[in-house]
Amino acid sequence: TTAATALALTATAALANPEGCDDGEIVVKFSHVTNTDKHPKGIAAELLKTRVNKEMDGKMCMEVYPNSTLYNDNKVLEAILQGDVQLAAPSLSKFEKFTKKFRIFDLPFMFKDINAVDAFQASDAGQALLDSMQKRGLQGLAYWHNGMKQMSANKPLIHPSDANGLKFRVQSSDVLVAQMEAIGGSPQKMAFSEVYGALQQGVVDGQENTWSNIYGKKFFEVQDGVTETNHGIIDYLVVTSVDWLDSLPEDVREQFLTILKEVTETRNKESTKVNEEAKQAIIAAGGVVRTLTPEQRQEWVDAMKPVWEKFKDDVGQDMIDAAQAINA
Ligand code: LMR
Repeated sequence: TTAATALALTATAALANPEGCDDGEIVVKFSHVTNTDKHPKGIAAELLKTRVNKEMDGKMCMEVYPNSTLYNDNKVLEAILQGDVQLAAPSLSKFEKFTKKFRIFDLPFMFKDINAVDAFQASDAGQALLDSMQKRGLQGLAYWHNGMKQMSANKPLIHPSDANGLKFRVQSSDVLVAQMEAIGGSPQKMAFSEVYGALQQGVVDGQENTWSNIYGKKFFEVQDGVTETNHGIIDYLVVTSVDWLDSLPEDVREQFLTILKEVTETRNKESTKVNEEAKQAIIAAGGVVRTLTPEQRQEWVDAMKPVWEKFKDDVGQDMIDAAQAINA
């Protein structure tokens, strides 16, 4: 973008074209659902945009639409296939219509921390999953980390039995439905953008999410407290369409993929720290955080882990074994 172009932009044009992309630049619209501050995905998306727009000036121009302003994650994959947006990074829980293989990432207590998730994704099996939806037109480009999930509700959750009879919002994943049923909850699939209102109005009683999402969307303000269960993970697939990627001139594609790879490496290393900061920000804002004794946490393991059996065939016992070997 030249200074002259930037100056020429009217307020309306700036809204329609927030980065002021120049004629001839390939425009990449990146739609996502989280906030941009104290959030692993929000920060990574901004860094990607900044680098692409600087280093690929004249060739490519990226616009980021955070906070579900363009699409929520349940619609964005269709939008990619239709060419309305080119990039998204939905959580791995949101690909069920396209593949069941990502279900491994939703199985409770499958990964002990994000380092284990990282190692699994870096393995041949993990890298092969990036290509697993090509026939459906989607191409995975990278995994972006968020972090470990915590449980929150409108009452204290210490034992799994405390969740009995509560309504929980879950992402659009049958594994997460089964997980909430395993603790006696009644799960409801819901778009991320609707969770705050649903908690506030009592449509649901609780939810599970990472510290950065609980902070970023202020869920803690409309919950009794958050229990540090670390029972599962939220991780993302940076995804585009096979057609769009193929349409790029080779040098442009290579430069874009190199920047994405570097941003991924840089920001994934920081994801745990970003979540820790979000947790501290929740506490500083007066949110209640409860921790479990090892015995109490074991109760959650015992209640939730039987869910693995149900999804064993979808994800493959070999994949479960590979993930568990990394945990050891
Ligand atoms: C959710 O729906 O809770 C998360 O997938 C949102 C996100 O993108 O982290």
